[in-house]
Amino acid sequence: MIATPSATLAANERVKERIAAGHDVLHLAFGEAGLPVHPAVADVLAGAVSRSGYPPVAGEPAARSACAGYFRRRGLTAGPEQVLLAPGSKALLYAVLAAVPGDVVLPRPSWVSYAAQAALAGKSVIDVPIPEHVGGVPEPRALDDALRAAVAAGRRPGSLVLTIPDNPTGTVADVATLQAVCEIAARHALLVISDEIYADLLHPSAAGPASYPSGPATLLPDRTVVTTGLSKRLALGGWRIGVALLPDSAVGRSVYSRLVAIASEIWSALPGPMQAVAEYAFSEPVELRDHVAASQRLHGAVARAMHGVFVEAGAACRPPGGAFYLYPDLEPHRPRLSHSGISAGQDLAEALLDRYDIGVLPGVAFGDHGDRLTFRVATSLLYGGTDEQRRTALESPNPTRLPWIAAAIDRTCESLSDLLLTS
Ligand SMILES: Cc1ncc(COP(=O)(O)O)c(C=O)c1O
Repeated sequence: MIATPSATLAANERVKERIAAGHDVLHLAFGEAGLPVHPAVADVLAGAVSRSGYPPVAGEPAARSACAGYFRRRGLTAGPEQVLLAPGSKALLYAVLAAVPGDVVLPRPSWVSYAAQAALAGKSVIDVPIPEHVGGVPEPRALDDALRAAVAAGRRPGSLVLTIPDNPTGTVADVATLQAVCEIAARHALLVISDEIYADLLHPSAAGPASYPSGPATLLPDRTVVTTGLSKRLALGGWRIGVALLPDSAVGRSVYSRLVAIASEIWSALPGPMQAVAEYAFSEPVELRDHVAASQRLHGAVARAMHGVFVEAGAACRPPGGAFYLYPDLEPHRPRLSHSGISAGQDLAEALLDRYDIGVLPGVAFGDHGDRLTFRVATSLLYGGTDEQRRTALESPNPTRLPWIAAAIDRTCESLSDLLLTS
């Protein structure tokens, strides 16, 4: 039974209380994209306020067609009849987990809500550790072992959730690992749920602009459900626009009709004004493509700079490849930290908040072992405290040199060295 609110939302509340009490908190605990609304998107919403009727449960045909086009441009087979819109991909993820029979297989650590949603849907979870180099996918050999053990114990694994790019690690699964995972998933007839809410936010590299990552939907097209939305790509989390693409297969059609049934009993439909925004945004006009490209550069620059800070401080930390997260591990400093009573990620998160007013989330919130010295850092709330600062950050060729971002990076650096010196 779930009796506590989501760890990220709870941490956000705690940080806000501290700010209200007069503290200058560096908020690295909440995964909000931290960018202003694009004016063209605001205009579309303003022009759609009179759309107050109940839309069709799966979404307006024009919005679903726009979404199908978006997926086709990413190499997937997609028609409007495979698309379902909803208030947020979180609702869709819950509905898919509830609609697919059997236990839920999760890479760990993974996003805070999968396990909680599985529990809400009355499902057991099979945890599989992530590989050393990347998150969002289970380590293939450990996956195979876990599935065999589960089946031998009489359990019925039914679905596997992947996150590409990943929250909490900010990494992007490589094709070889994905192929190995998909082969195992196919052998066990699992339905793969590919959470691609960050997939448009790959970091551009020196080699060129960011493209869309390879995902299981191209490797296992008949058995992969893709979920995405506008919360991260266009920083519209509070507008709650989510989309699912169901496979064009017998399994896909059967899950689709169960999803529509669940949607019809819980949220009815994505509100009409948001259908208009979805139609516009998923048709990807050039002004929005430019906006997303600018946000990829910003997310990449700040995440890379913060990664440098943690590595410099001696943390083990996978290099980020997408989204706006890092997942440092201070295990190399365990002997030193244990002198001042810090022996777990939770202790670390408390020390950072109490001593330095820095908010992070301990790894245990993502299903990591409670005694590990891991925590998740969201780098996106460093872009500024006002829309003007955030817009400047978005347009800047060197955002990490902007005074407020540079100050936040320096503060993290100084706080970490102080924590490690005084421990
Ligand atoms: C991995 C992951 N999936 C899904 C979501 C939920 O997104 P939405 O706003 O579409 O419900 C989040 C939000 O933080 C996330 O980090």
